[in-house]
Amino acid sequence: MKTYKITLIRGDGIGPEIVAEAVKVLDKAGEKFGFRAEYAEALMGGRAFDETGVPLPQETIDKCLDSDAVLLGAVGGEKWDSLPGHLRPEAGLLGLRAALGLFANLRPAKIYGPLKDACPLRDEIIGDSMDIMVVRELTGGIYFGKRGRETVDGVEAAFDTEYYTAAEVERIARVAFELARRRSGRLCSVDKANVLESSRLWRETVIRVAADYPDVELNHLYIDNAAMQLVRNPKQFDVILASNIFGDILSDEASQVAGSIGMLASASLGEGRLGLYEPVHGSAPDIAGKEIANPLATILSAAMLLRHSLNEEKAADAVEAAVEKVLVDGLRTPDIYTEGCKKIGTAEMGDAVAEAI
Ligand code: IPM
Ligand code: MG
Repeated sequence: MKTYKITLIRGDGIGPEIVAEAVKVLDKAGEKFGFRAEYAEALMGGRAFDETGVPLPQETIDKCLDSDAVLLGAVGGEKWDSLPGHLRPEAGLLGLRAALGLFANLRPAKIYGPLKDACPLRDEIIGDSMDIMVVRELTGGIYFGKRGRETVDGVEAAFDTEYYTAAEVERIARVAFELARRRSGRLCSVDKANVLESSRLWRETVIRVAADYPDVELNHLYIDNAAMQLVRNPKQFDVILASNIFGDILSDEASQVAGSIGMLASASLGEGRLGLYEPVHGSAPDIAGKEIANPLATILSAAMLLRHSLNEEKAADAVEAAVEKVLVDGLRTPDIYTEGCKKIGTAEMGDAVAEAI
């Protein structure tokens, strides 16, 4: 039987609870579609700091590199907020993205039919669906550029640098063009080329790459306008391509337009098949351990893992269909509950999805 190595980083807060449910679903998909998943556990984030003194132990990087895919719950929490930058849980996440070369972050923002009422926009704006894919550059830009602090004439100052090479822009642009080609054929590239030199290089490069994709319709928006258009008329978007920081911001905004952040998955990919999969929501320490967290975003991340890293397309489709089914059946964790539905807990939701596969 085909066996895949999956590294689990359960993480902080609700991370362990939601990863457990995604594992249930992966195992069930394996039974049904003829593969087996072998799991390795690794530490990253706050718990990693507590147990090893650093947010990203080398052992974790090694384990991840030695696996077919990595499934992550969520990291962070107030407990670690006062640590210096390089020891914070977030530094572990950034370090892992860089160490695994995961430069392409795919963040689908989708409205599930039965959850349509969670969308805060009026019906005449949103229509009956929304399905946007944000493609965010993940290992460059201001997140990784030169930064520092200095004192000039007795005044404290700090700087971060937005820096992109044309090659970095080109490789993320190609990911976005390929995706657009397989979806509706529309791509919107976001920048601030009216002000920033790095954005001018971004735009020139995207235009150059576009010559290889004559079937994809490309347009460009400045980030401020894009942020506005996303709530004014989200239906104009299919695939959105953005830098690390612009993509960070727009993907949160898109998730809010979709309404239920507890439903949103993500994939971080590199040149090979190895990918890191995680829900878009955070570690929600306030509800940790209460068995009320919504595991669906993690389960949908596991579906992306099946599709992008394991090439188990049918199993991925089945997991996504199972999630739709439990929603149609009216099962809801408290965060997506509305009257007339059945309120259930984290593990019950995982069981229901596994059952529906
Ligand atoms: C995200 C998060 C991270 C980021 C933080 C936690 C470092 O906001 O994945 O969007 O900014 O990339
Ligand atoms: Mg973010």
